[in-house]
Amino acid sequence: MTQRDDLPRLTTTVFERMSRLSAELGAINLGQGFPDMPEPAELVEAACRALRDQSNQYPPMRGLPALRGAVADYYALHQGLGISADEVMVTSGATEALASAILAVVRPGDEVVLIQPLYDAYLPLVQRAGGTVRLVSLTPPHWTLDLAALEAAIGPRTRAIVLNSPNNPAGALLDRAALEGIGALAERHNLYVISDEVWEGMTFGSAPFTSTLAIPSLRGRTFKIGSAGKLFSMTGWKVGWIVAAPRLLAAAAQQHQFLTFTTATPLQWAAAEGLALPAQWHQSHRARYAAARERLVAGLTAAGFVLLPADGTWFVVVDLATSGLPATDDVALAEQLLREAGVAAIPVSAFYAERPEQGYLRLCFAKTDATLDEAVARLTAYRATGG
Ligand SMILES: Cc1ncc(COP(=O)(O)O)c(C=O)c1O
Repeated sequence: MTQRDDLPRLTTTVFERMSRLSAELGAINLGQGFPDMPEPAELVEAACRALRDQSNQYPPMRGLPALRGAVADYYALHQGLGISADEVMVTSGATEALASAILAVVRPGDEVVLIQPLYDAYLPLVQRAGGTVRLVSLTPPHWTLDLAALEAAIGPRTRAIVLNSPNNPAGALLDRAALEGIGALAERHNLYVISDEVWEGMTFGSAPFTSTLAIPSLRGRTFKIGSAGKLFSMTGWKVGWIVAAPRLLAAAAQQHQFLTFTTATPLQWAAAEGLALPAQWHQSHRARYAAARERLVAGLTAAGFVLLPADGTWFVVVDLATSGLPATDDVALAEQLLREAGVAAIPVSAFYAERPEQGYLRLCFAKTDATLDEAVARLTAYRATGG
């Protein structure tokens, strides 16, 4: 019997290719966004205790009340948001939160506005819901959002806008004025907003992080998405959440019940404990990443690389043209850096669905001092030999 050949073929992303090549070549991987620093002991301990002393059976579909309450309390303390535990649903990572929110609002034939550079899950999730996308690009070097361009992308079939602040890979934040502008558009065109705020705990610049839920015009139409994996630098935990007004949350819950239904119970207990740690703990957790960022920025700058301004995430972006490097094919340059300098980076064009920027590379600084120093030494040697 001949085999059917009607399954979609898996394409290899540049992320996978760079990581695989990096491992093959024994390179330093500043491409993929994961920390190689020691993990927070308090969280590991809390998870062990939860495995032993709490339940390992199904939690409630919307999440443990302890975690839903802890999310609400965390946002009250750290972002001044007034939300109730009833407005929180726990999901299996921010990825499932995105899927639940997108499947909740997007119907076949609807349009969704996405902002580039974009996290790679948004586009396939909108397509899976039967929607199509309109794309708006941020403008480097500050990755500003042109509200007129955003409004021009909104049509009669537009149902939602997906936001990502702080932005991966650009590190840019949407400030209050931009969010208020988006709020006015959302009201005028009656749109939902899906706001991916997973990097909210990793901000380093002087600009304060503002959540979409802090904007009155967005409060009732926004799905705010968070991730314990990102807040605690444990990317493999895949514990996330949606915060939204009850009507919106109920629609997302309908999707969640048939996506994953629930999320690992012991990790929910541990995430609840982690969120409730004193503000000082969260500050010093962030301070370790701020120090790593400063170390990489100082080393790269001394080696002649010019970095774009960035206020959040675990990433910095090299501006190839002003660094005196070829700026027309970032994929080729990333491969060259990998083979000749032994350092993996991600070309920013990988975060575009169309009209990609070609002149930027993303580097992850969430690494130990030893890893960062070795990467800088290799890149310095590369530049010294004319790279
Ligand atoms: C912007 C953005 N959204 C969502 C995610 C996924 O988060 P999680 O691992 O909690 O699913 C990531 C992970 O890198 C991200 O950068």
